[in-house]
Amino acid sequence: MRDEAMTQDEMKKAVAEAALSKIEDGWVVGVGTGSTANYFIDALAGMKNRIDGAVASSEASAERLRKHGIEVLDLNSAGPLPIYVDGADEATTHLHLTKGGGGALTREKIVAAASETFVCVVDDTKIANYLGNFPLPVEVIPMARSHVARALSNLGGNPELREGFVTDNGNVILDVHNLRIMNPVELESEIDHIAGVVTNGLFARRPADVMLIGSEKGVRELH
Ligand code: 5RP
Repeated sequence: MRDEAMTQDEMKKAVAEAALSKIEDGWVVGVGTGSTANYFIDALAGMKNRIDGAVASSEASAERLRKHGIEVLDLNSAGPLPIYVDGADEATTHLHLTKGGGGALTREKIVAAASETFVCVVDDTKIANYLGNFPLPVEVIPMARSHVARALSNLGGNPELREGFVTDNGNVILDVHNLRIMNPVELESEIDHIAGVVTNGLFARRPADVMLIGSEKGVRELH
C-alpha cells in the first residue's frame, strides 16, 4: 500500500475512469471540457469501437476526441443524447454546480440540456456547503460587458473581466467574486435575464443527475 496522499490529478483521473461504467454500447456520448473531462476522453478512447461517436462541449475537447480517433458529431444531427459527462469547479450535495472555469460554460449547458443523464465527475476538493467561493463565470456579448458588470455589482458580486480570453463563441467572460449563493436556482435565472448575458456558470435549474466524487477512499456516487 502506498503511503503518499493521492494528488488531485489522481483523484480526477480515477473519477473520470469510473464514469465509463455509465456508458452503454452504441451510444453517442456528450463530452465536457477541462482536465477531468480530458481524463474521461482518454479513458473513453479505450472503448471507442463500442460507441457511435461523441458530441463535444468545446473546440479543445473536440480536438482531443479526434486525436483519439473518436468521431465528433454535431449536436443538431446527433439529436438528444443519452449521457453527458463533465467536471465542475464547485458542487454541492444537492448536485448544484458552478462551471465555466475553462470558459466553455455555454456549450456545456447546451449539451447538458440535450442529454438524458448528466454525470458530473469531481474530486472531493470541489464539494462545498454552498456555491460562491469559486468565482462565478458569466459569458457576455462583448458590447454589453460594462452594462452586465454594473448589473452583477448590483447583485452584490465583484465582476472581473477574464483578461485575454475569448470563448469558442467569440464572447468574453466576467468572473464574479464574493457571491454567497444561497438560492442558486433563482440567481441562475436572474443573471440570465440581464441583457447581454449569454449564459452563467450556475447549473442549478438543470443540476447534475448523478455525481461521482473521487477521494482518497475511492469513488462515491450521489443522485
Ligand atoms: C470548463 C468547466 C470544467 O468542467 C471545470 O472548469 C472543471 O475543470 P477541471 O476538471 O479542469 O477541474 O466547467 O468550462
